[in-house]
Amino acid sequence: MPLHKTINFSRSVGTTTEILLWKITEPLAELSAEVTLNPKNQARFNGMKSELHQRAFFSVRKLLQLKGYTDFDLEYDKFGKPLLNDGKHISISHSHEYATLIISDEITGIDIEMQREKIIKIAPKFAEKEWEFLDSENQQEYIRKLTVIWGVKESIFKIRNKAGISFKDHIHVHPFEIKDQSGTANLHFQNKLIQFKYHFIEIDNFTLVYAFQQNQ
Ligand SMILES: CC(C)(COP(=O)(O)OP(=O)(O)OC[C@H]1O[C@@H](n2cnc3c(N)ncnc32)[C@H](O)[C@@H]1OP(=O)(O)O)[C@@H](O)C(=O)NCCC(=O)NCCS
Repeated sequence: MPLHKTINFSRSVGTTTEILLWKITEPLAELSAEVTLNPKNQARFNGMKSELHQRAFFSVRKLLQLKGYTDFDLEYDKFGKPLLNDGKHISISHSHEYATLIISDEITGIDIEMQREKIIKIAPKFAEKEWEFLDSENQQEYIRKLTVIWGVKESIFKIRNKAGISFKDHIHVHPFEIKDQSGTANLHFQNKLIQFKYHFIEIDNFTLVYAFQQNQ
């Protein structure tokens, strides 16, 4: 069964959150066999050049099916943000052989990234205040922490979905330790300060981050 992991929890009374993770091992034909796409998503699928992306796209639909949704329950806004038609919040991410989604009563975003050395090179593009607590001496931990920071910023970006947000200038991840598996961050953009709580888990050499918006 390629459903790799599920996480269910409630952060406050009356709310539930579910995270599902699919390990993409099947060929495209198998993944697409029992999935009917709505016309808009079929058009998006037709435009995808990478087979990996196509398989991830169908893996997400398999995960939706497990929660009782079909592709006809999912739409995208003009920026590409996914929306569910029952009012629950959804966020999607895929990377290499993993596809994941989070469905929640709370405002949330998710990101999965492979831990790679390459992140050290691109870090100056997305990190700024975080240099105050990052230590490049221990390279393995440095890569793991940078991957968390990247995932937090992607998750927050997916929540706010606003043009002009800079990962480096507007989103700040506060000091954390890998063992904490959680932390806080904020987005300071257009004179508004929004707080976020995030959690992360490491699976193989991937980091899965999910964040919740704490205030309006
Ligand atoms: C949109 C973005 C967040 C997607 O992230 P990614 O790491 O490329 O890809 P992921 O697999 O994690 O996420 C892709 C999913 O995000 C969702 N998504 C796409 N655009 C979105 C948006 N504007 N808002 C929220 N979710 C979005 C979609 O569900 C998509 O999957 P699907 O199309 O198969 O359904 C990213 O490409 C982006 O634009 N980031 C901001 C730009 C930026 O500042 N980059 C860093 C500068 S250093």
